[in-house]
Amino acid sequence: MVFTLKKQIMENNRDGFSGKFGVIAAAAGSAIGLGNIWRFPYILGENGGAAFLLVYLLFIFVMGVPVMLSEFVIGRKAQSNIIGAFKKTAPGKPWYIIGIMGIGAAFMILSFYSVVAGWTLEYAFLALKNNFAGKDIVEIKTIYDNLTAGSWNSVIIMILFLAITALIVSFGIQKGIERYSKILMPMLFIIIVLLCIRSITLAGASDGLNFLFKPDFGKLTTNAILQALGQAFFSLSLGMGVMATYGSYIKKSESLGKTAISVSLTDTCIAVLAGVAIFPAVFAFGIEQGEGPGLVFVTLPAIFNQMFGGYFFAVSFFILLIIAALTSAISLLEVVVAYFSEELKLNRIAATWIATGATIMPAIICAKYGAVFNFFDKTSSNVLLPLGGLLIVIFAGWFMGLNKVRKELEADGRPARYFKVFIFIIRFLAPIAIALVFLNSLGLMNAGNF
Ligand code: TRP
Repeated sequence: MVFTLKKQIMENNRDGFSGKFGVIAAAAGSAIGLGNIWRFPYILGENGGAAFLLVYLLFIFVMGVPVMLSEFVIGRKAQSNIIGAFKKTAPGKPWYIIGIMGIGAAFMILSFYSVVAGWTLEYAFLALKNNFAGKDIVEIKTIYDNLTAGSWNSVIIMILFLAITALIVSFGIQKGIERYSKILMPMLFIIIVLLCIRSITLAGASDGLNFLFKPDFGKLTTNAILQALGQAFFSLSLGMGVMATYGSYIKKSESLGKTAISVSLTDTCIAVLAGVAIFPAVFAFGIEQGEGPGLVFVTLPAIFNQMFGGYFFAVSFFILLIIAALTSAISLLEVVVAYFSEELKLNRIAATWIATGATIMPAIICAKYGAVFNFFDKTSSNVLLPLGGLLIVIFAGWFMGLNKVRKELEADGRPARYFKVFIFIIRFLAPIAIALVFLNSLGLMNAGNF
């Protein structure tokens, strides 16, 4: 009794999510980002469509959900930031290095992510001012090239984006992150559904839907399979402590298993909806689907131009991107802020602005130098995240103690019937699959050779 009371007081001292919807909105807000709306469609476009989608779905549910669950378990058990979490659950052992890598990855991802988020802000302004009107795809490409070639404009707008992110994070978990996620995520959902309706009612939309949903397995290369797993991890925000940090804010009465499934389902739905919003339009207007990173920044404005109601849809689309980017950047910043405030004993507001200040320099360098941007993008997504994910599942599966894991999964009072499958995945399947992607991304394996 006394013990429970003490535990409750300890829990209540820490800021946290108020309830189910808040947790899901915030965690889905982290997961749903530029990865879903900007990266997923172009990677899918480059890898042949529906067959890639199927493999991606498989990875999300067989790998992604268990890894997310492992992060939740580690975070909620420790009630701590990502470095503190490993120091608490494995005192005196070097596991906290995973946390250090996570903080490093957070800075790196936040730096280049804010740059892309800045572009989306700029595009929303351009769309609002109706600047794309009358321009053909070549002219729009010039706008994109100028913006992304390190203009000061892109630096200023990136700083503006970071400042908005920091402001929300400085308000705390319940009054900042949760409150804004609860407003922004439903908005995002409405906008994307509207865009989908517009897209599938275009004449010639069915080719785009076929591309998305009719698999041609001949197009599935080994490299595509590995990319699908990498994308699944990136999209679910796994491997660097975002979900562990958010897990530490989830009440013991919530089911972690259900939360992981809901977040993954929501994230996947939005990625598929982004595909449905984009590909029918791409096909209807006869544009190359393997366009690459310029897909949403060059191809889409050109399409909006030719479309009835294009102004409205262009503005909506770029607002959608800003929202998606914002709730993800918030989660990245939160990983660092939780660490600064808990381990370095700074107050939240100071921690937020120091972390943001420390991100500005590398972010400016990313905005100005494409090579640094690419280096940060590749190192974090291809090295730090898979390595982090690998170590996290190994920690949860082999070192944390199965009893503790089970207790945390069942803390809401319901039996975790999936426990055996979960343990099998995090002990064997996930480490092997992640190791394969990791080796591939390091270039140690020739994708054609196995
Ligand atoms: N998941 C986000 C997206 O899809 C990006 C993101 C946020 C992320 N936090 C992360 C990716 C942590 C990896 C790790 O855009």
